[in-house]
Amino acid sequence: MRLFLDTANIEHIRHGVSLGVITGVTTNPSLISKEGKVDYKRHVQEICSLVPGPVSTEVLSQEASGMVAEAREVASWATNVVVKIPASLQGIEATWRLSREKIKVNFTLCFSINQALLAAAAGAAFVSPFVGRLDDIGEDGMALVREIVEVYKNYPDAIKTEVIAASIRHPQHCIEAARASAHIATIPYQVLLQMIQHPLTDIGIRRFLQDWRQVMGEDKM
Ligand code: E4P
Repeated sequence: MRLFLDTANIEHIRHGVSLGVITGVTTNPSLISKEGKVDYKRHVQEICSLVPGPVSTEVLSQEASGMVAEAREVASWATNVVVKIPASLQGIEATWRLSREKIKVNFTLCFSINQALLAAAAGAAFVSPFVGRLDDIGEDGMALVREIVEVYKNYPDAIKTEVIAASIRHPQHCIEAARASAHIATIPYQVLLQMIQHPLTDIGIRRFLQDWRQVMGEDKM
């Protein structure tokens, strides 16, 4: 499972990429807004220059022609831009039109298998089931990821859409997404930091150093 960062924060992206484990980024209007009143185009271009893989950024239009026009513009900003289109009827039409132009779409705000089937039929490069938001309303968000992956696997020749487990809230979600065979999990920066943490690792590192220093002093290997 590949890991993307779900943020528009430049420092967090820089750090994640420097660790070598982050290969893409997803943003949305809320995440961009968190960074203040930025120059949107320059901000997206900066992210695209830092990240080796796809950078998703979302359209604001609600109708298909507006989405397509926005997507064409955004796609011209960098070669690794992916356009996020919401899972609406208008979004389906826009996704289909854009996929014919070879503009990659991340079909976002996906909350059902039918939405994911339509995303694949329309030629979306990615579909993003929102796990945490389903959990928030008492549903099993990860079950949706599992089921989309399962259904897509029935059509290996026809469906190339990759499943991004999105709206990830904690490290356990990452484990569950991998167990569900999601292609990608897009994770908040905080979750990335949490994934490596284990108290026994910290204790182990301290103890190894203490034992070494007791005998060797400050000598290095
Ligand atoms: C995905 O691409 C979205 O940006 C994101 O995962 C939404 O997560 P949230 O439910 O924590 O806002």
